[in-house]
Amino acid sequence: MRDDGFPDDFVWGCSASSYQVEGAIREDERGLSIWDEFSHAKGMIRDGSNGDIACDSYHRYPEDIALLSRLKANAYRFSIAWPRIQAGGRGTPNQKGLDHYSRFVDALLEKNIEPWPTLYHWDLPLELQKKGGWAERDTAYRFAEYAEIMFRCLGSRVKHWTSVNEPWCSAFLGYREGEHAPGLRDPNLAYKSVHHLLLAHGLADQAFRQGGMQGDFGIVVNPATPRPANDSEECRQAAHRASLERTALWFDPVFGRGYPNEYVRACGAQLPIEAGDMDLISLPVDFVGLNYYLEDTVVPALKGPDNPLGYRIVSSGAPKTEMGWEIVPQGLQRLICTIAEEWKPKALYVTENGAAFHDFRSVQGGTEFIHDAGRIAYLRDHLHACRDAIALGAPLKGYFVWSLLDNFEWAWGLAMKFGLVAVDEKTQERIPKDSFAFYRDAIAGSAL
Ligand code: FCB
Repeated sequence: MRDDGFPDDFVWGCSASSYQVEGAIREDERGLSIWDEFSHAKGMIRDGSNGDIACDSYHRYPEDIALLSRLKANAYRFSIAWPRIQAGGRGTPNQKGLDHYSRFVDALLEKNIEPWPTLYHWDLPLELQKKGGWAERDTAYRFAEYAEIMFRCLGSRVKHWTSVNEPWCSAFLGYREGEHAPGLRDPNLAYKSVHHLLLAHGLADQAFRQGGMQGDFGIVVNPATPRPANDSEECRQAAHRASLERTALWFDPVFGRGYPNEYVRACGAQLPIEAGDMDLISLPVDFVGLNYYLEDTVVPALKGPDNPLGYRIVSSGAPKTEMGWEIVPQGLQRLICTIAEEWKPKALYVTENGAAFHDFRSVQGGTEFIHDAGRIAYLRDHLHACRDAIALGAPLKGYFVWSLLDNFEWAWGLAMKFGLVAVDEKTQERIPKDSFAFYRDAIAGSAL
């Protein structure tokens, strides 16, 4: 154990995803994804931007890796763009796409940075969406084929695989709220997507085990356990109901308990389960990744078709980030401990944590500095919460900052900046912020 309370073998990383940083959307026979279409549709992205160029990391990844190396990060969590591997989501893999990720993984390993690929971070091949996307069962089988292609290509070099990132967002923001691609607003399609995303995860898990792959296979979720606004029984019940869609809906099936009846009944969710599905979904996982940004506070509300779980989010008075997300560092410790106690995963990682803030720039001696004291405080406090969770006995093995670079923040566009490093939109120059030095020192053991 280090003096600052973190284990010596703790994983210190940064996170990113393909569509948010790569750009180069028409290169090397990449097919289009649902995000290419969605980000170009009028009015879908708040600042009118898109991911056509993003951070140009498809070309500039050596610079990104050099930055990770300066941080002395020992892991990089990135995602593979499925449409670069199979343009239409099926069939013979595209060698150019495979070569790209192969080079990328080699470049990371050369710097002693462990590659942590995510197979699906939201850029579904558009052609699969035209056939129904995640609301269709076939998409899960297509995903398993694609996963096998990647296991064969990178399996000897990659030791930590993630199936899907935040399936709650894919299913509910994508198919119920219309805020993310494919922009649909139909709860029934969302429930089908829940099941097919989990089935995709299970089928890939099976392919991983049957293929004799070495290493760890897991899933990354964005769970939430909101706080009751007060101690009353009604409020505590509302907080419990509010947590179901973000915790039990995913962890119960993955850990062999089936879907939570309470949720399914309250929402009238029709889940298209077929024989054998729940066994696949509950195949063992080596780790669970948690993405945490905020903790909501809730009060009871009238149940109805638009609010089947009967709760409402209220302000707790905590300060907020630029996203309007309340900053509650101890919420991270509570979340880690709750998940560890309730579902007992073998290992937990905080696979995303970070904050969007305005940066303040200054020039000293011809050099540009970016001051982001808000982000430093956010990261420090949340790392302290991780340390507390470890001290309480949670099997927390690593932490990844979202994100190395300012990037394309989905429906918010390029305006929301989460990076330790700023990226000049015109020149693509990477400029480390003060938080970059902070995280470097945290990794070195001298900042916390
Ligand atoms: C998460 C996403 C990630 C990033 C952060 C801010 O929900 O997984 O891609 O956009 O939010």
